[in-house]
Amino acid sequence: MKNSKIVGLGHYVPETIVTNQDLEKVIDTSNEWIVERTGIEQRRWFDPEKDTVSNMATRAAKMALERAKTPVEEVEFIVFATITPDYFFPGSGVLLQRELGLQGIGALDIRNACSGFIYALSIADQFVKTGMYKTVLVVGAEIQSSALDKSSAGRSSGVIFADGAGAAVLKATDENKGVLSTHLHADGDYAEELYVKDPGSSRKVRLSKELIDGPTFNLTMNGNAVFKHAVVRFSEVINEALKHNGLAKEDIDLLVPHQANLRISNFVQKQMSLPDEKVFNNIMYYGNTTAASIPIALSEAWEQGKIKEGDLVCLAAFGSGFTWASALIRW
Ligand code: UT7
Repeated sequence: MKNSKIVGLGHYVPETIVTNQDLEKVIDTSNEWIVERTGIEQRRWFDPEKDTVSNMATRAAKMALERAKTPVEEVEFIVFATITPDYFFPGSGVLLQRELGLQGIGALDIRNACSGFIYALSIADQFVKTGMYKTVLVVGAEIQSSALDKSSAGRSSGVIFADGAGAAVLKATDENKGVLSTHLHADGDYAEELYVKDPGSSRKVRLSKELIDGPTFNLTMNGNAVFKHAVVRFSEVINEALKHNGLAKEDIDLLVPHQANLRISNFVQKQMSLPDEKVFNNIMYYGNTTAASIPIALSEAWEQGKIKEGDLVCLAAFGSGFTWASALIRW
């Protein structure tokens, strides 16, 4: 059986930097509150004249392919994680496929929010392990800023979420390395704790003026509930991955957690007794970019020389659904 290994990583974030001080001008918030409660100092918000989910994904994918020294024509399948697709349908996977000039290959969209990239990686890994594909592009990209309530009423989520894209090129290998295992979970009991309700298909009229003027088009989050579940599930799903592979937490060389809130990452770090240099965080600069956060972080960690051949890298995520997931990768 083949293994799948990440041979290239790339990312793209919009040019527009929105600082906490910028938000202070429009939202009843403060730099101190945001930094203390979330760790975020700035984030990127898209430029509607320039950025789309699929074109940001394309830029990230091209960087990943270039770094992987892999010609685009080698890509046989695309798995695209996003909950903020360019269109209501079709998904953004086909748009990325078109922008890369890969018409004809399969493209699959994944809607698992913050866990989306790990779900996507897991699917790509299964396809490689079964021998169906040798080269798969795995992408996470989001534009969250256009769904945020940027008034004071939406301040708890308005200061957190942001935009960006990340990509990984996954290739089949005969070596005994690469993605060791992935672990996927969900609990739909909590679906409404973090969601965007409209435009929901079960409405008699999907779009009406009343609905548009109401609050249900914005992201709604019960921050406390999400936080409490997140800190439990992160550690649980990391331990599950370690146990599955007969490894211990001391074996982890780098943990790349979904960048939800620096306090969540710090809590998990403490629970796993990991030193600072073994946990990668960049939420300070990018906020929470949902499915894009892990591939952006992974790409930056690699760029900064924090991932070396033979390292054990652990990915973990928790978010809307609720969904949570982990992956262990021998680099
Ligand atoms: O991506 C995966 C899914 N998302 C997450 O994992 C996010 C998980 N949740 C969180 O990160 C945190 O719950 C938040 C950052 C969203 C909120 O932080 P918190 O420490 O849980 O704050 P809170 O909601 O308990 O609110 C505490 C206080 C409240 O004021 P009172 O009632 O104590 O007077 C809020 O109104 O902080 C107030 N508050 C704010 N103040 C200034 C909430 N948001 C803000 C804000 N600026 N932006």
